[in-house]
Amino acid sequence: MTAESEALAGGMVNAGAVFRRGALVERPAPRNAPALHVHLLALKEHGFDAAPTPVGLTEDGREQLAFIPGAVALPPFPDWAMTKAALESVGSLLRRLHEAGAAVEVDAGAGWPLDLADPEGGTLLCHNDVCPDNVVFRDGRAAALIDFDLAAPGRPLWDVAMTARYWVPMADPASAAAFYPSGLDAPARLRILADSYGLSPRDRAELPRVIEQATEVCRSFVAARVADGDPAYLQALAERGGWERWDRMQTWLADHRATFTASLLN
Ligand SMILES: Nc1ncnc2c1ncn2[C@@H]1O[C@H](COP(=O)(O)OP(=O)(O)O)[C@@H](O)[C@H]1O
Ligand SMILES: [Mg+2]
Repeated sequence: MTAESEALAGGMVNAGAVFRRGALVERPAPRNAPALHVHLLALKEHGFDAAPTPVGLTEDGREQLAFIPGAVALPPFPDWAMTKAALESVGSLLRRLHEAGAAVEVDAGAGWPLDLADPEGGTLLCHNDVCPDNVVFRDGRAAALIDFDLAAPGRPLWDVAMTARYWVPMADPASAAAFYPSGLDAPARLRILADSYGLSPRDRAELPRVIEQATEVCRSFVAARVADGDPAYLQALAERGGWERWDRMQTWLADHRATFTASLLN
């Protein structure tokens, strides 16, 4: 790295390995980077300008992407990232991603990562990891989605469910309090996300169950990393209350399923 490189703080997977150099971001390339770059360029051609433009791959296994100016919320998430307007902007940005993506043929043989993939499969390339640290904000609104490392084919509803987990958030109040401003009304915010995305009535009826399914997949993702001895995930699990927190979140989701359905449909 040259002297002008600036380390970018964000997620856990590539912590300490993402750098900005002027107009470029350099980060470890995901295994399927060639196919992902083709997809990102196709999204751009279909009018979606809110994802990083791929610039190249280096011989030492890194990828170069265009840097997107703006602010990224890191935990504990600030109030500005959890306003109603912020949530609405995330919903409409996800819808724009999906509309552009629907027009792009996905290379099913590209070896998309299965880590957070929709177990039911699908034809849309879902982002799968629309957490606050993967959304760039400008003027209090979501301006771009970054970090497509875990993108994989699935149902659009799966991506809505994953996004709801992080942005509502779909967690019991005690778990949410560790990272989110207090007083966020989960059923009301789930409805705001569904409305801003433009979710169909049929998908609304399914969403609470799909969020539960997505939570199971996220738990398995963490379990696999912990089983591998990944230090970042071991530490995060211990600090955040271990598997008990996951049990609590899953119980809370099941207990409030009818409340979420009513808020989404009435
Ligand atoms: N193209 C980009 N434009 C602007 N900021 C970026 C870009 N890519 C990454 N970042 C910043 O770097 C952080 C970490 O990058 P990310 O690709 O999300 O890594 P990780 O895989 O560890 O989550 C992000 O949270 C964001 O703050
Ligand atoms: Mg990230």
